[in-house]
Amino acid sequence: MTTTITTLKITAMFLFQLSNHKKQGKECSEEIEAKKIMLTSQFSQSHSLLNLLPIQKPFISGGSANHSSSSAYSPTIFRQHTSTKKSIPTGDRSTSAAGNIKAISIPFITKDTVVVKGVITVQPTISSALAGVSLGGIGDGISDLLGRSFSLELVSNDLDPNGKQKTVQAYARYEALDFDISVYTYKCDFDVPKDFGEIGAVLVQNEYSKKMFFKNIVLNNDVTFTCESWVHSKDDNPDKRIFFTDKSYLPSETPAALKSLRTKDMESLRGNGEGERQSFERIYDYDVYNDLGAPDDDLTLQRPVLGGEERPYPRRCRTGRKMSSKDPLTETRTTLPFYIPADEDFSEIKGVNFGARTLYSLLHGVVPSLDSIVTDKDKGFPLFTSIDLLYNQGVNVPPPENGILTVLPTLIKKAADTTNTVIQFETPEIIDRDTFAWFRDEEFCRQTLAGISPCSIQLVTEWPLTSKLDPEIYGPAESAITKEIVEEEIKGFMTLEEALAQKKLFLLDHHDLLLPYVNKTRKIEGQTLYGSRTLMFLNPNGTLRPLAIELTRPPSDEKPLWKHVYTPAWDATGAWLWKLAKAHVLAHDSGYHQYVGHWLKTHCVTEPYIIATNRQLSQMHPIRRLLLPHFRYTMQINALARLTLVNAMGIIESTFSSEKYCMQISSDAYDKQWRFDHEALPADLISRGLAVEDPTAPHGVKLTIEDYPFANDGLLIFDAIKQWATSYVNHYYPQANLVESDEELQAWWTEIRTVGHGDKKDEPWWPQLKTQDDLIGIVSTIIWVSSGQHSAINFGQYDFGGYFPNKPTIARTKMPNEDPTDEEWQSFIKRPEDVLLKCFPSQIQATKVMAIFDVLSSHSPDEEYIGGNIEAAWEAEPAIKAAFDEFRGRLNELEAIIDSRNTDPNLRNRCGAGVVPYQLLKPYSENGVTGRGVPNSISI
Ligand SMILES: [Fe+2]
Repeated sequence: MTTTITTLKITAMFLFQLSNHKKQGKECSEEIEAKKIMLTSQFSQSHSLLNLLPIQKPFISGGSANHSSSSAYSPTIFRQHTSTKKSIPTGDRSTSAAGNIKAISIPFITKDTVVVKGVITVQPTISSALAGVSLGGIGDGISDLLGRSFSLELVSNDLDPNGKQKTVQAYARYEALDFDISVYTYKCDFDVPKDFGEIGAVLVQNEYSKKMFFKNIVLNNDVTFTCESWVHSKDDNPDKRIFFTDKSYLPSETPAALKSLRTKDMESLRGNGEGERQSFERIYDYDVYNDLGAPDDDLTLQRPVLGGEERPYPRRCRTGRKMSSKDPLTETRTTLPFYIPADEDFSEIKGVNFGARTLYSLLHGVVPSLDSIVTDKDKGFPLFTSIDLLYNQGVNVPPPENGILTVLPTLIKKAADTTNTVIQFETPEIIDRDTFAWFRDEEFCRQTLAGISPCSIQLVTEWPLTSKLDPEIYGPAESAITKEIVEEEIKGFMTLEEALAQKKLFLLDHHDLLLPYVNKTRKIEGQTLYGSRTLMFLNPNGTLRPLAIELTRPPSDEKPLWKHVYTPAWDATGAWLWKLAKAHVLAHDSGYHQYVGHWLKTHCVTEPYIIATNRQLSQMHPIRRLLLPHFRYTMQINALARLTLVNAMGIIESTFSSEKYCMQISSDAYDKQWRFDHEALPADLISRGLAVEDPTAPHGVKLTIEDYPFANDGLLIFDAIKQWATSYVNHYYPQANLVESDEELQAWWTEIRTVGHGDKKDEPWWPQLKTQDDLIGIVSTIIWVSSGQHSAINFGQYDFGGYFPNKPTIARTKMPNEDPTDEEWQSFIKRPEDVLLKCFPSQIQATKVMAIFDVLSSHSPDEEYIGGNIEAAWEAEPAIKAAFDEFRGRLNELEAIIDSRNTDPNLRNRCGAGVVPYQLLKPYSENGVTGRGVPNSISI
């Protein structure tokens, strides 16, 4: 009934307009048909009657038509597009207000032109929102708002008969602020010639003196330009911004009139590689990591350049800051956030809980407060019970700077009085469920499969275990873990040879990566280091048990080689030495997890993908539109990391083993370990011997350890990603030759291989890009790394590392049996617990890391989860929308599958008494520290 009434009202309105038209003697059958198309279109989208009514307030048109002829009206101006309104995800997923534009128009036809009404939505900045959303907050004050605006120029897809662009210009007027969706609305009318053809682009000039964040531009509620981009002020740059419609085109399919714009837009993003970048710019360029040191502050903060032949590294975003006066190879630092292209900076348009802002607040508020109360930086925890006080009572600190309390509600519990603030930590999941889990061997092994560092473990395929380092420098290559030691531990099960043949031996190998840094690190006060190997055996029930830990100190000028093999022991001294050896291995694995697995292999390697995508793939390229959701916030969080986390004596160096060598170790790992073709989950598992190819298996691989929670859940997500990528790629590339002939795509892949990851450009393992399958493999890898892989190693950091005895970031003291003095040995014999506590992080190190882990493990309230929001360009293409719906459906199914696995008592690595269930790859989560949830991108 509603439908009928609405139809009648629309028809009446249409006839009324038509009647007026006839009275003027200007009947035009094409126009009538065009209007019928519009009405059908609008009605089929179920807009309310209110939305379909003509705008009551007349627009003031500031521009004039630039038309050239009055030939028959072309209905292609109003080519049907699907709704741009974003779908609302089910459950507790985040939602988006983008695209909820209410203003609608009916074209008013004059003699030679048709009026096209444009609605521009602009997002207020946080500063303006916090200031009560005054009109002035958006730009330069209310008088400015009324006086200035935006100039818009529509561009036809078709050239005129003389081969020139056809454009129509208009001036936008401020209309309203929509409090519900927090956007400013501007409107404008375009007098579009009837033969204008399909609209393909819009050129924008921002008359304000500040950059403005455009969400979208909608024409007649039908043609959408999804912008989500800052538009610079013409005062900063007179060039007009170019936006294309949501329709994607391969380069070869670009409408004739848009080709030059497509090229020009990408050129503007590449820049010329010169000068210091400004905050209004959107230039993506490359540089080496020469910005981690601060020699101008102190020469002890000088750090080598990462990137180049000597220390290979991925490239980061170029800022062009001037070089240090003390070290011409190092870029100067600022206290302000480093430059990133404007569209990567969300600090002014996202909620105050957004990760980067929260982390920034933590690093500039809480960490200095902690520093200020600790006079003895080396002081450890005197008792295990004093660690518990961090959760029970908290730490009194001076009030952090304004604003810090509000952005860290979970960490800062209460203000004891006006002069003190209490930082009180939540009880981490690991000890909330089982206070003593951290102490036990089976949990130590279980976390190699279901903890936050699930990618260190590898199958032992050769015996003896052998180093690849130079024996002249580092001592004999062969491990001290012998066949006899192994068989002593597994007697009753099998021989060493049988264990190898049956794939029962697994290794945590932190030997070759760390050994070159042992003697250097030991010269630093409060530090020690070993190379380590940890051997484990796969029990018949699918769990792992540790067999031996080997710790090695290479020879130096002062001391000979020292190495020792520890085994689980049944005497008190042996048991405590075993526990201490485990603490060292855990510290090694924490470092590997943080600055290799987390920083290098997700955050850092992704930045070149983002830069290349913006430089080489046009905004109308379908692959850019596929990848962009997986790049959101990453450059911003990486810039913040370079500012305060991975910089000289930043959080990582000051709280992890190896201190100033941490980033150099990550460079070594990039050089010797990182391979793009091993980053897709199945390839990663196969490379570590944790799976073999098996076409008959559900995911094409058979796991070596059947109950490997990270792998089992990850393969479900990886497969869903791959299927989505397959549908997407095959839609836009129906023939293989289209992949090879796509010059933008080829330039993109070449730039990733030879510039962004240029230090690895000669590696033979780079996948080629010639077919759809090649492209599917490449984009699936990139999406997996930025979503599932990062989530698996990021969001459990507090649950597992928040109680540092379970995952200490540093082991500060050597083993009691390494060249001990009598006094040292007797101290150990008398109170071994004290030795362990001294080995663990100091109080300041532990509390800093706990605070950082709390923030790093948090989901923001507006988190964008994988399979959550559909992009406007995907929704505009029915086949892509259907594929995305299928993708979302598969991810939804994972929630129940993972829940079911976590309650299966046969899966002992994820279900059991006091065991933390493996939820890190459950796709969705509430905000806060939840230990689950897979966001689209690396955002924290
Ligand atoms: Fe992260």
